Amino acid sequence: MSLTPQFLDELRARTTLSALVGKSVKLHKAGREHKGCCPFHNEKTPSFYVNDEKGFYHCFGCSAHGDAIRWMTDQRGLPFIDAVKELAQAAGLEMPAQDRRAAEKAERARGLHDAMGDAATWFTEQLGGLSGSEARGVLDKRGIRPDTARAFGLGFAPDSRGQLKAALKDYGAPALIECGLLISVENKEPYDRFRGRLMIPIRDQRGRVIAFGGRIIGDGEPKYLNSPDTPLFDKGRTLYNLDRAAPAVRKSGRVLVVEGYMDVIALAQVGIHEAVAPLGTALTEHQLEKLWRMVEVPVLCFDGDAAGQKAAIRAAHRALPLLQPGRSLSFVTLPQGQDPDDLVRARGAGAMEELLASAQPLVDRLWQSEMAAEPLDTPEQRAGLKQRLSELAGTIADQGVKFEYLSEFRRRADEHFRPAKKPFVPFQKRTGPWKPPPLPVTEDAKAFRAAGIDRVLAKAVLAGLIRHPAEIARHMEVLGSLRLVDGALGRLFEAVVDVALEDQRGQDPLDSGRLVTILARSGFETVASELLRADTMPYSFTQRSADHGRARADLDEAIAILIARPEVDTMLAEATQAMQSEFTADAFERQVALVREKQALEDRLANLVQSNEDARAMGSEGN
Ligand code: UTP
Ligand code: MN
Repeated sequence: MSLTPQFLDELRARTTLSALVGKSVKLHKAGREHKGCCPFHNEKTPSFYVNDEKGFYHCFGCSAHGDAIRWMTDQRGLPFIDAVKELAQAAGLEMPAQDRRAAEKAERARGLHDAMGDAATWFTEQLGGLSGSEARGVLDKRGIRPDTARAFGLGFAPDSRGQLKAALKDYGAPALIECGLLISVENKEPYDRFRGRLMIPIRDQRGRVIAFGGRIIGDGEPKYLNSPDTPLFDKGRTLYNLDRAAPAVRKSGRVLVVEGYMDVIALAQVGIHEAVAPLGTALTEHQLEKLWRMVEVPVLCFDGDAAGQKAAIRAAHRALPLLQPGRSLSFVTLPQGQDPDDLVRARGAGAMEELLASAQPLVDRLWQSEMAAEPLDTPEQRAGLKQRLSELAGTIADQGVKFEYLSEFRRRADEHFRPAKKPFVPFQKRTGPWKPPPLPVTEDAKAFRAAGIDRVLAKAVLAGLIRHPAEIARHMEVLGSLRLVDGALGRLFEAVVDVALEDQRGQDPLDSGRLVTILARSGFETVASELLRADTMPYSFTQRSADHGRARADLDEAIAILIARPEVDTMLAEATQAMQSEFTADAFERQVALVREKQALEDRLANLVQSNEDARAMGSEGN
């Protein structure tokens, strides 16, 4: 079919844009224009203008811009041709002659839509009828209220091969086969596709039923049977519940993508109406584009299991080439073994809101997964990480965003491998539900841990102990393991611990002066007094002027980090190795948790430095 530019101009000229827009957006006259709150982004003060003379709208807030046709495609979500048809009808314009095949196709589609609508009605009747009692029981058991079931048009397909076919016989078998309601196999009578299933109608953006998902009652395979792709239904371009979610999305300015139909329904039931779901497949580019037409940063909510996390990464990678300034994704990981349906059923909407409040930005998600992908112990492995990161960033088409990703990844990698100086502070704190179990404290384990110790931090801790010898006694046990650090550092730890042990028998509390004197006798004079003078280290406990209480608390924290780090490193190396030999959900989960754990330690260290700097800055301002 061809629509001439002349026809489209005529269509625009005959359409009063403010009247069209005014159907869904409250507009006020403002001079020669109309203005209102922009439907394309969330705002409280109007920056959205409609100009009838020129026939376009423009938002000064988000730069949304277009004419009447664009309005119908972008705001209403119609395909171009439907947009034109609807406008033409409203304007009383005859559509130009279509070529015969297109006209027939449109006519047939109309018939198919009617058939799907009638099928949906029939399924809901069955749910309410005698044969639907088992299905009603399932809904009841899942806590789906009757009003929710009605709102989502849930129905029931009886366990029969011919009932729907009989009920919809007026459409004729070919039409019912074409829209996927009947299955036709060679030499057999066509029969009902959906049998003995709870029926979930899938609607297009205009609310017309275009497909069904059918959930088995009880257990069995497949759990969900979906309509095949048909002239009405293109799975990769459809998002379940988009029609109902869109108004809620416009209000709240957020859209959630969850994995299943039931998640969408359960969320809506507890008041979270802005959820959609892809239909059992990975998110496609089309679906991403649809989401981005609504909000800049859709939130993807994936299960915490390996499959869910793989899906999250796949979506992240798929989104990269399509990123634009401002346009991104964020990620929410559900607790292991729970989907949003389980979560809100057990703990209500609040639990979901809590997770949403700490959604992880795309850049963090990518960084975290690359960090966990391979060991990072050798220069080659670290170079490998950097290469993977820049390859990822390289897939971004938008030059500005690509540049930002490249430099952000470079900065993170550089800072990560230089942790003691000024570690990278992530956008948000990550705390995983999983905590690594304590390692058995054998001598071997101690030695192993000591080998992986952060020597710069260890030196700072030593300096702190020499400045605050009274604290040594409280840490005797963990400090003991640090004796095993090789070289002068280990020997100095040993000497300090020995002195403190000896001293427990004495009367006077051990002070710095006496400690240095005793250490000097063992040949440590220079090192020890150097450490005592080291005011350049960025910690409160190494600095002479620091508040004692703070120094004590910070020293505790530094020792905790110092000891925990090699443990986490060791376990991470093991987990990574396990992952490489066999990918299992558990191994992956463990690895991800450990990467988080490692990051958390670095955050804590960064905080230690930062809060000390803050305290000093305030102190010097006061002077
Ligand atoms: P899930 O297996 O996570 O289902 O599949 P669910 O939504 O939690 O369902 P309940 O709670 O067990 O009833 C997520 C989505 O994947 C698609 C469906 O769209 C489903 O909602 N799926 C799943 C299929 O298409 N076929 C299947 O056999 C299974
Ligand atoms: Mn579920």
